[in-house]
Amino acid sequence: MDHFALKNKEQLLDLAVRHGTPLYYYDGARVREQYKLFRSFFSFPHVGVHYAMKANYNPTLLRILCEEGCNIDAVSHAEVLLALQVGFRSSDIMYTSNMISDTEMQAVAALGVLFNIDSLSRLEKFGCAFPGSRVCLRFNPEVVTGHHDNVKTGGDETKFGINLRNIDSALAICSQYGLRVVGVHEHAGSGIPETVDMEAGMSAILRLVTLSRFPDLEFVDFGGGFKVLYKPGEKVVDYFTFGASVSAMFSSFCSSFGRELEMRFEPGRFLVAEAGYLLVTVNTLKYNGDRRIVGVDSGFPQLIRPMFYGAYHHITNVSALIRSDVEVERYDVVGNICETGDRFAKDRMISTISEGDILCIHTAGAYGFAMGGVYNLRAMPTEVVIDSTDGVTFVEFVRKGLSAQELIDSVLSK
Ligand SMILES: Cc1ncc(COP(=O)(O)O)c(C=O)c1O
Repeated sequence: MDHFALKNKEQLLDLAVRHGTPLYYYDGARVREQYKLFRSFFSFPHVGVHYAMKANYNPTLLRILCEEGCNIDAVSHAEVLLALQVGFRSSDIMYTSNMISDTEMQAVAALGVLFNIDSLSRLEKFGCAFPGSRVCLRFNPEVVTGHHDNVKTGGDETKFGINLRNIDSALAICSQYGLRVVGVHEHAGSGIPETVDMEAGMSAILRLVTLSRFPDLEFVDFGGGFKVLYKPGEKVVDYFTFGASVSAMFSSFCSSFGRELEMRFEPGRFLVAEAGYLLVTVNTLKYNGDRRIVGVDSGFPQLIRPMFYGAYHHITNVSALIRSDVEVERYDVVGNICETGDRFAKDRMISTISEGDILCIHTAGAYGFAMGGVYNLRAMPTEVVIDSTDGVTFVEFVRKGLSAQELIDSVLSK
């Protein structure tokens, strides 16, 4: 199967015409499928899935995942509030704090969600403010992995997690304030290319739990990091084999621990990346020497992954597909932002492009809109979610991007 074939090219063109571009389109049914697929990897009976909503906080996608029975991993006060407002219960949400203020700690604690704490300093403050609470402890698994240095969260060069060698200090703080450790957590990185690295992080944390005393433990959380396909020909990770292997590992861990615990994961990208597309219109074709430059009506603040991570996003010329053009040419696809690095693709072979063509940037559902901003005072795009079953659309959610004047109004508002 061609993973990047656009079976819905007419629909994409229609959306671009109806809503204008740039436009984020998300396929709700695909999110449901990904959630079910994710669950099917594991034979262990007690698997908890907490969607890392930092990947995409679109409220319709959150509602879809809520309907499917998914839970939430939130990282800010606003994320917790949004998750509650779209229908998750406080017991469905874990709040993974990082470098938070006392004010944020108080505000989130008032919402009744479980804290996942990643420093001794914050653990001490949390214990002092809320003695006797339930808590999850985030440890640094000391495994360095991820698709780019900026997403590696294990090892010596990261700001995340309590060091494994500080376990005694962490437990001493918990004991001092009567904190009950119900969860232990690790997250090694994002877009992890090899499952052996995920298993190494999981083993490190299970070793820690085995060697220490956690009488109140209910779950072990192994974070996210599940990879998706961004590029034709890229290796597909076999998560079925991984799921079988870690289910067996966790089962045997529970036997030696003496009771059944929940095995928890926090996928972000895996659930939403492939369901998202950024549609843009070509407004400028020009040459710079031999280079064919294609200018589009979006830019890196609307999809920063190519610039931030050097990430590859596949691009299809939807208009050429409709015309059944077969010729391909080499292009640099660039954005409308006043920065040299504002480029979606370099030296990319794409079906012959004309001004006015609609291009589809694939795999844009995770860390796309959510990482966005309004640099150069260009408003974020409109978002559309279409949720359908058996070809029947039952939800079409549109969140309109701001006009230039609305953006200015938000800048000027007090
Ligand atoms: C603590 C934590 N959990 C889960 C995730 C989700 O990662 P991914 O989108 O790679 O699954 C992240 C991503 O940064 C994270 O920091």
